[in-house]
Amino acid sequence: MILSGKRILLGVTGGIAAYKAAYLLREFQKAGAEVRVTMTPSATCFIGSETFSSLSRHEVAVEVFSDEDPGDSWTKHIHWGEWADLFVIAPCTANTLAKLVQGLSDNMLTSTVLAARCPVLICPTMDGEMYESASVSANLKKAREMGFYIEEPETGYLASGLEAKGRLPEPESILKRSSDIIKKHRIQGPLTGKKVVVTAGPTREFIDPVRFISNPSSGKMGVAMAEAARALGGDVTLLHGPLSIAIPDRINSKAFVSADDLFSLIQKHADADVIIKAAAVSDFKPAERADQKTKKNDAELTLRLEKNPDSLAWLGQQKRKGQVLIGFAMETENLIENAGKKLESKNLDWICANSLLDHSSGFEKETNIVHLLGSDQSHEFSGTKTEVAMNILKKIFGE
Ligand code: CTP
Repeated sequence: MILSGKRILLGVTGGIAAYKAAYLLREFQKAGAEVRVTMTPSATCFIGSETFSSLSRHEVAVEVFSDEDPGDSWTKHIHWGEWADLFVIAPCTANTLAKLVQGLSDNMLTSTVLAARCPVLICPTMDGEMYESASVSANLKKAREMGFYIEEPETGYLASGLEAKGRLPEPESILKRSSDIIKKHRIQGPLTGKKVVVTAGPTREFIDPVRFISNPSSGKMGVAMAEAARALGGDVTLLHGPLSIAIPDRINSKAFVSADDLFSLIQKHADADVIIKAAAVSDFKPAERADQKTKKNDAELTLRLEKNPDSLAWLGQQKRKGQVLIGFAMETENLIENAGKKLESKNLDWICANSLLDHSSGFEKETNIVHLLGSDQSHEFSGTKTEVAMNILKKIFGE
């Protein structure tokens, strides 16, 4: 699938070809992409936003300010602009094209173009006379100079009844062009083309509907590892427990709660080229989970715990040739010795050992001190978690 795992933001503007964007969306999905849609208000005169929300299984953004969700929904253009790998505007009317070259931000679509960190592909679609007009020609020239990609319209029968250049190209052409642009903009680094899975944060093992066993992991180190792997070119998926920090929109993520959930997710992602297990997993879970809140009727309560699956040990047993497994170890004593034992017993390539006794490392801190152990080498890194994460990955994979 040429767009497997890629995120396409589809912008639909108010031209008759807006109905064709629904077919285009389906083709993007068939090619493996995840699609979100933003429409201009006039596009909704040609096709309902519900069509796109049903097909994309996601809300469709039309207005920057929403009465239904007055909270922080007005920052959606920033988040969506960060989320996408490619923004495709198809069809793009002469009016929206003119706004884009002027940098206007009068609706959700135009605002998101300004906020987008990804390349933007414009598919101008209009009647032949309009397309050949002096202003559209000048705007297309300017758009190219500004770095927008343009997919030229095709010649054929138009809605006006005339035969001219102005038709929306067939989905195959738009898909092929999209894939080429995404490849061209791929971050080049030692992890380019590699699937990287990172786990982060704590697990929760519920005792009853209102209580659980957990630990103070914030997820900062795992998120920093995911960001570093992405910056080195990796196709990153972050598997995360309940975090106390926000996950950047540009990181693809899936949530878990318990160690059992994490184990099921890991089994689905076990084919990754690189797996980094920074999650602080609970080794035990209550043997029974009460359906109702446990009452304090007795003076004492005994909890019987049973062992959780160890996802990392399981991965070590399944490890295929060329796959790189990186574990984390949190210790309160004999740091290097204990981490070294885990490196061997779990069949890892590397383990990042951090001590809980050091003031500048451990749970919830902004900084960390990590001893990176491989089978025949060891290195020490200290600094912010962001710096440490990048230095660990550069040491393992090169710059
Ligand atoms: N890990 C895991 N599943 C578990 C326990 C740990 O996948 N049930 C992973 C962690 O994500 C980490 C590594 O194993 O990458 C080491 O975790 P740690 O808690 O330091 O060690 P344990 O193997 O649990 O051993 P112990 O608690 O006895 O120190």
